[in-house]
Amino acid sequence: MEKKYKRTLVTTALPYANGPVHIGHLAGVYVPADIYTRYLRLRGEDVIMVGGSDEHGVPITIKAQKEGVTPQDIVDRYHKIIKESMEGLGISFDVYSRTTSDIHRQTATEFFRTLYEKGEFVEKTSLQFYDEEADQWLADRYIIGTCPHCGNENAYGDQCEACGTSLNATDLINPHSAITGNVPVRKETKHWYMPLDKWEPRLRQWILEEHKEWKPNVYGQCKSWLDGGLQPRAVTRDLNWGIPVPIEGAEGKVLYVWFDAPIGYISNTKELLPDTWEKYWKDPESRIIHFIGKDNIVFHCLIFPAMLMAEGSYQLPVNVPANEFLNLEGKKISTSKNWAVWLNEYLEQFPGKEDVLRYVLTANAPEAKDNDFTWADFQARNNNELVAILGNFVNRAMVLTHKYFDGVIPAAGELTEVDRQAMAEFKDVKETLGQNIETFHFREALKDAMNLARIGNKYLADTEPWKLAKTDMARVETIMNLALQIAANLAIAFEPFLPFSARKLRSMLGMGDVQWDKLGDTDILAAGAKIEKPVLLFEKIDDSVVEAQVERLKKIERENILNNFTPKAVGAECGYDDFAKLDIRVGTVTACEKVKKADKLLKLTIDDGMKGRTIVSGIAKYYEPAELVGKQVCFIANFPVKKLKGVESQGMVLSAQDADGRLVVIGPHGAVRPGVGVS
Ligand code: 2FM
Ligand code: ZN
Repeated sequence: MEKKYKRTLVTTALPYANGPVHIGHLAGVYVPADIYTRYLRLRGEDVIMVGGSDEHGVPITIKAQKEGVTPQDIVDRYHKIIKESMEGLGISFDVYSRTTSDIHRQTATEFFRTLYEKGEFVEKTSLQFYDEEADQWLADRYIIGTCPHCGNENAYGDQCEACGTSLNATDLINPHSAITGNVPVRKETKHWYMPLDKWEPRLRQWILEEHKEWKPNVYGQCKSWLDGGLQPRAVTRDLNWGIPVPIEGAEGKVLYVWFDAPIGYISNTKELLPDTWEKYWKDPESRIIHFIGKDNIVFHCLIFPAMLMAEGSYQLPVNVPANEFLNLEGKKISTSKNWAVWLNEYLEQFPGKEDVLRYVLTANAPEAKDNDFTWADFQARNNNELVAILGNFVNRAMVLTHKYFDGVIPAAGELTEVDRQAMAEFKDVKETLGQNIETFHFREALKDAMNLARIGNKYLADTEPWKLAKTDMARVETIMNLALQIAANLAIAFEPFLPFSARKLRSMLGMGDVQWDKLGDTDILAAGAKIEKPVLLFEKIDDSVVEAQVERLKKIERENILNNFTPKAVGAECGYDDFAKLDIRVGTVTACEKVKKADKLLKLTIDDGMKGRTIVSGIAKYYEPAELVGKQVCFIANFPVKKLKGVESQGMVLSAQDADGRLVVIGPHGAVRPGVGVS
């Protein structure tokens, strides 16, 4: 039997206040947390959702240094943007605070002191990197080097973003300072460590034995960390931005951002409920759920729980439904490369379309694996689902009611089989919909909700009230009553997912507050009451809108290629003999066609001054075949003959990437006789 809890505390990962939030944050954390919380509220449960900005950490000080402003300026700027845009998207925080607040500083300081006084830290002096020119310790992202796991040359001192491995600065190969680029020296410094090894057996028992129901991606990541063996982790840093370490002999040191940030959940709760916050954290009848992205799993499932165990008076989370990552148009979202759809910009550019984004992000939520957001899909889901299914049904039901009954809800007469059938399907969907939300399967839950709208459309199509209006008005009354009751049901079912549209719909139908329990009922709307004139819940999105967004991304891609291109290091010396082995010649393309069943390949027929040859080249994405005919290209004539998709390729055409990342073929700048060698 699943345990029943008296109250629920929903926490949402605190976004760093060094930039706005983007669709990856939303799909991974805030939209699912909001759906879950809104659903529990609709069920009348005692639930609070807390969040805030994560305002410490090195990325913030680096940004401040780059802009020549203070870290406080940076976090003030972005906290405001983040808070407002979250509200704009209807993320219904009960409190959205920040880790530079007094209450947070006090809470984190006390927490550290308690652990210190209980003897829960290990004090250790070690060698850490120091930039002598900048006269600064190089913690976390202040140090860059090569990842020992994947070879990424731009890995940070705390994490490699290419392979996701979390690192210690001293693991990096060729470390250098992010401030001056200098090779740092190592100096001795003292820090306080959480001995995670001490907590490993309890963490192992708690997760691997007692929480087998956690999402496989979360459970799997925890298991792999635990199987690898946990090491002590430093919880202090040599930095001047953060919460000072509250003990003697720690001057100039602050709490590690990942030590204070999760305590932010506690401070947020205190700020919201100064008198009753402890119930949510300490009563075993409360359930804590952490909504996070996959890069935060280790902190929320192992490190923070170890901190809570060490403190001793707090409950551990009941679940941590972490999501994987959302990509944008096939590429990893990146703040530094501006490869993102920023929430504040979206809200400005798409006023009134908050729910469209919520819908698309939920439908594509990266629940079990990384997923992709594309503007084409955004448009298709809006036009084919929100407009064509949900909006269409509601509009038809309301327009017909106005047409036949002047907007007054008619009374239902005796129900027929088709009516009963529609409502029975409703009740079935209601069960699975709630179950899916409770088990964090939000994509499925959204499909369930959309199926309710489909049932509505089918009901109208099956009963055809517009035909019966000529002969059987009594029957039309029943049908329209039921159709409007279905619309009222949709206002309930979609409230967690599409709160703006659900509110509009409730107001058009004259509904008051709603409860989840009413879902499936046919007496939500009282006969005789009047409904408003319908306004469209959703509007079609034109191709031009989507094209403009794609164009914007292409521009960013071009800029990134231009700005980030550094020629690779010159290779090992190559003598003339080596060069002469490559038989490079000029040829003229006389014919060109696509290779069947291969979207990347073109078959080029080349006049090589001899009997001619065929070369297959992977440039189909960049050239229409006709564009190449008549062009002169350079090719390697003595490249081994190979069959590609059944076509024999007798050489290799030379090409290079242009600023748009497209391949362009290389050829001579003046007319050259086919077959002439390149030297
Ligand atoms: O990864 C991040 O964006 C962190 N700022 C998340 C912190 S979550 C919590 F611990 F506060
Ligand atoms: Zn790596």
